[in-house]
Amino acid sequence: MSENFTGNFTQQEPISDEGISAALDVLHHGRLHRYNQAPGETGEVALLEQEFAAFIGAKYALAVASGGYALATALRAVGVKPGDAVLCNAFTLAPVPGAIAAVGAQPVYVDVTEALTIDLEDLADKAGHADVLMLSHMRGHICDMDRLMAICTAAGVTVIEDCAHTMGASWRGVPSGRHGAVGCYSTQTYKHINSGEGGLLVTSDAEIAARAVMLSGSYMLYERHIAAPPPETFENIRFETPNISGRMDNLRAAILRPQLRDLPAQVTRWNERYRALENGLRDAPGLTMVERPESEGFVGSSFQFLALDWSEPMVQELLVRCAARGVELKWFGAAEPTGFTSRYDSWQYAPTPKMPKSDRILAATLDMRVPLTFSLADCALIARIIHAEAAALFLV
Ligand SMILES: Cc1ncc(COP(=O)(O)O)c(C=O)c1O
Repeated sequence: MSENFTGNFTQQEPISDEGISAALDVLHHGRLHRYNQAPGETGEVALLEQEFAAFIGAKYALAVASGGYALATALRAVGVKPGDAVLCNAFTLAPVPGAIAAVGAQPVYVDVTEALTIDLEDLADKAGHADVLMLSHMRGHICDMDRLMAICTAAGVTVIEDCAHTMGASWRGVPSGRHGAVGCYSTQTYKHINSGEGGLLVTSDAEIAARAVMLSGSYMLYERHIAAPPPETFENIRFETPNISGRMDNLRAAILRPQLRDLPAQVTRWNERYRALENGLRDAPGLTMVERPESEGFVGSSFQFLALDWSEPMVQELLVRCAARGVELKWFGAAEPTGFTSRYDSWQYAPTPKMPKSDRILAATLDMRVPLTFSLADCALIARIIHAEAAALFLV
């Protein structure tokens, strides 16, 4: 009899007792707005920012309403204007080109490689077309950041890192988000720390930080931040920087602070699950694993593999067969976007020429979430199911 998986790919772990208790404290005192502080009190949001800046090793941090908001704020803070071109990955999710569109700029997509990272040759070719790259470490895959930064520095391109999938990850020991001018993170439920919705932004550039604080809606209360530049940095920008409200509140920050402390341990648990999936799938007929470079300290909170050059009906058949056994795979090759999955040609507000190299990779990319509610045995079972179904299809 064939085995079936009965777990839930969207079920994250509950908020810890420590997080619940911190949230209850905020609810009991009622000061949810970040600037609503009792005399002598430092609010939860300010503390989260201080702790996050220390965790990432950045000078400044700002907590905001969502990861997408952090991205748009970063674009504004580095000076992107309506009509500007902004380079970004062809393989990413809708909030990334959406943030570029939100500031009236135009995404210029850069190809993806079989490693699921940005194509550095294509980037070098296109670097002269824009002043800013919004680099998505999509699904946690980090490219050779040393080469990427060399290309961008030589071309005068400012790098904003979309670290929605790399909070806690690193390249050659440097935390993800510390290579570019700004790093942006999401704390939405499916990310590495969970407040339902939320985002964080880090930078070590005082002026970018001050602009981001003003943009997020600080009014003239920026002195209540403890991970922001000194008040004099705000002198020149405070009247010319619009308030585009998108603050985080103390309730969400209270839930996030204990999770941030636990993150290194959670990364270890994610990576054990990732390796269990990888070990089980490594010899699956017709499937290609995405090799992780030594320099990459990744967080295996999701798992991708490639069905390279399979016909479309064959990939669809694999999806149907796996789904029938309880294994929910997402596919970046579908003609119509479904759920959270979409691709560069779904974003019709930003038309672009066809990208055959990326099309080949997207048509092959299969993706699944790896919530920490899965045990190692669950991961081994999921891998056995995919392996068996690929074998059944590929070896006929
Ligand atoms: C790659 C990527 N970037 C940015 C975001 C935006 O994060 P948020 O949902 O917090 O706005 C997401 C969210 O799913 C994402 O997957």
